[in-house]
Amino acid sequence: MRQDTKLQQRALLDNIPDMAWLKDRDCRYLAVNTAYLEILGIPEHAVLGKRPDEIWPAEIAEVYLRTDRAVLKSGRRRRYEETRPDPFGIARWFETIKSPIRDKAGRIIGTVGISRDITERKLAESELIKSRTQLRELSNYLQSVREAERARISRELHDELGQTLTALKMELGWLKDRLPVEPGMLRARLDRLVQIVDHSVTDLQRIASDLRPMILDELGLASAIQWLAQNFSERSSLSIELSFELADVVYSKDVSTAAFRIVQEALTNIARHSGAASARIVARHSGNELELDISDNGRGMDVAGSRREQLGLVGMSERAHMLGGSMEIDSAPGRGTCISVRLPLLTDKVATAAAP
Ligand SMILES: Nc1ncnc2c1ncn2[C@@H]1O[C@H](COP(=O)(O)OP(=O)(O)O)[C@@H](O)[C@H]1O
Ligand SMILES: [Mg+2]
Repeated sequence: MRQDTKLQQRALLDNIPDMAWLKDRDCRYLAVNTAYLEILGIPEHAVLGKRPDEIWPAEIAEVYLRTDRAVLKSGRRRRYEETRPDPFGIARWFETIKSPIRDKAGRIIGTVGISRDITERKLAESELIKSRTQLRELSNYLQSVREAERARISRELHDELGQTLTALKMELGWLKDRLPVEPGMLRARLDRLVQIVDHSVTDLQRIASDLRPMILDELGLASAIQWLAQNFSERSSLSIELSFELADVVYSKDVSTAAFRIVQEALTNIARHSGAASARIVARHSGNELELDISDNGRGMDVAGSRREQLGLVGMSERAHMLGGSMEIDSAPGRGTCISVRLPLLTDKVATAAAP
């Protein structure tokens, strides 16, 4: 019967693909499974009755004895991660769980343990963290390239094409002054041409401002947000209230671009999704941070809902993170939405992007 119990115990241990063992109160091995023996590379009889410091290298044995004693003393299960070299000397990660064994009276008579090789999982985890960081850096870089490109095209449209259209209008004016009064049809045609040029100038200014408003670089964030709010109010029926503290602060280009683009996307969302009649933008300084709240009284949204793939909100949050800041969304269906952003003003960028 005793022999049977031993065989059953052995079968149970061997059925576990991870290293498994039983130890007594003195931390001596009572049983180990085949997986354990394969890793140790010594026969069972050389293990049974021994303590960890008799079969493992000193620094590993020290950990095993310490954790065994902690389990024996506390009577509680312990779970920890450890590294250990494989037979080729390459470090591998293990997750080890140790629990106390009690007799019928509840006294602790030993410990049971299991140790799983989690190297693949650890590698996958660090690979995931690495590729996430890379993705974030790449998106940061692409954002700054895109912003620089937009600024360049906007300036070129304004300076080059704008000048050309102005010259064209002057030439048309010159021509009109020298046209004979009759036939009137020619003068009417010229007036029409001047109108077309005027329309083109308006379109050009709108396209250039949409790309990157010059006001942002020339007059700063407060003026640019004011301009943006006015623009939105004109294009939609939204009434926007602005409260801008410390309007004369000069922000770095990174901060003003991020803040401007975040407010722009938030207002676009309000106009597109909220159905709100009014919105409010509050900007204030707290410590070394610029705090922006963009709120509306619209239909709100389910914040925990599936908006992960929706890149507007993700992009806003990424912009804040890129500068070492953060973004929070406070919203619920029927309760309106408030987007709060914090942007540090003086700290170095967390993810540095090589701007062109
Ligand atoms: N101010 C808001 N009011 C109500 N719903 C909003 C608001 N802002 C965002 N949402 C919701 O969150 C979703 C995600 O927004 P966003 O990431 O900007 O993507 P998109 O605007 O392209 O749909 C929107 O589709 C909308 O359902
Ligand atoms: Mg959007």
